[in-house]
Amino acid sequence: MPLVLRTLLFGFVTLLVVVLIIDDIAEVEEETAKNILRFLDPERDISILKGTLKPGDIIHYVFDRHSTTNISENLYRLLPTVSPMKNQHHRRCAIVGNSGILLNSSCGPEIDSHDFVIRCNLAPVEEYHRDVGWRTNLVTMNPSVVQRAFQDLVSEEWRDRFLQRLRSLSGSVLWIPAFMAKGGEERVEWALRLILLHTVDVRTAFPSLRLLHAVRGYWLTNNVHIKRPTTGLLMYTMATRFCEEIHLYGFWPFPLDPRGKPVKYHYYDTLKYEYTSSSSPHTMPLEFRTLSTLHRQGALRLHTGTCD
Ligand code: CTP
Repeated sequence: MPLVLRTLLFGFVTLLVVVLIIDDIAEVEEETAKNILRFLDPERDISILKGTLKPGDIIHYVFDRHSTTNISENLYRLLPTVSPMKNQHHRRCAIVGNSGILLNSSCGPEIDSHDFVIRCNLAPVEEYHRDVGWRTNLVTMNPSVVQRAFQDLVSEEWRDRFLQRLRSLSGSVLWIPAFMAKGGEERVEWALRLILLHTVDVRTAFPSLRLLHAVRGYWLTNNVHIKRPTTGLLMYTMATRFCEEIHLYGFWPFPLDPRGKPVKYHYYDTLKYEYTSSSSPHTMPLEFRTLSTLHRQGALRLHTGTCD
């Protein structure tokens, strides 16, 4: 066969294989999203809306069912009137977990190149932007963050730092799981008071109990016995609804990297984590194994290396 013909044939076969692989990946992605959709509708469940509750209403915590809290005036004022995810559909999304595996990764520009970037627990970006990027479209804030990262807003200095972090988010969704576990209501209240007192351009969202139950239910029926889903897994589950392609960065719940070098639990602080302790609320290594399986099946892309 002449060389030209052989080259053409080889090119055609390669193209066909690539198209088939891409098709396969798209199918797995679609299938996962469809399955998750049977359990939840993130556009609706991402936040309780104003019309559905009033100040004083009683809410049961998801993980401490016998304990309740009341919808405060401030929380009510900050409930959105329409879903922050209404009509949102994005081609490529990045979800940035907080593992120290991101340090020296140079993944910042790659993360920022996504159409929608989700971050967890108000993790700082400024000093780490080379590795983690700047862009933020949605960021979560567990009540514990107010204590851990902002010293319970005790002084003017910490209140300023908190407000500065929020101002840098300009227009992003601030997602506060206020009804997950008891113990954080005062912290949420202090944070909300500050948001209302100062001009902060964030769109607050408070996930419904339904979302948290549904995410847990979805993974349980898929035989993934997760005690309490981590923020990262909640974000991935939700993102399947509004993202075509999902890329995960900073997910690495292990003390050593693949080459045996120590990895910090968080890229930005000195917090230590007992990855395998039975008293921990999360089952991160199990979640990671599940995400790795989905990565192998082509349903998501898990980035754990460097980006140069
Ligand atoms: N994460 C990870 N490996 C780590 C640290 C975090 O995979 N070493 C992922 C988890 O999915 C986690 C997310 O990054 O949910 C954000 O990290 P963090 O702020 O520590 O979240 P949580 O542990 O869920 O928060 P909390 O401890 O307040 O429940």
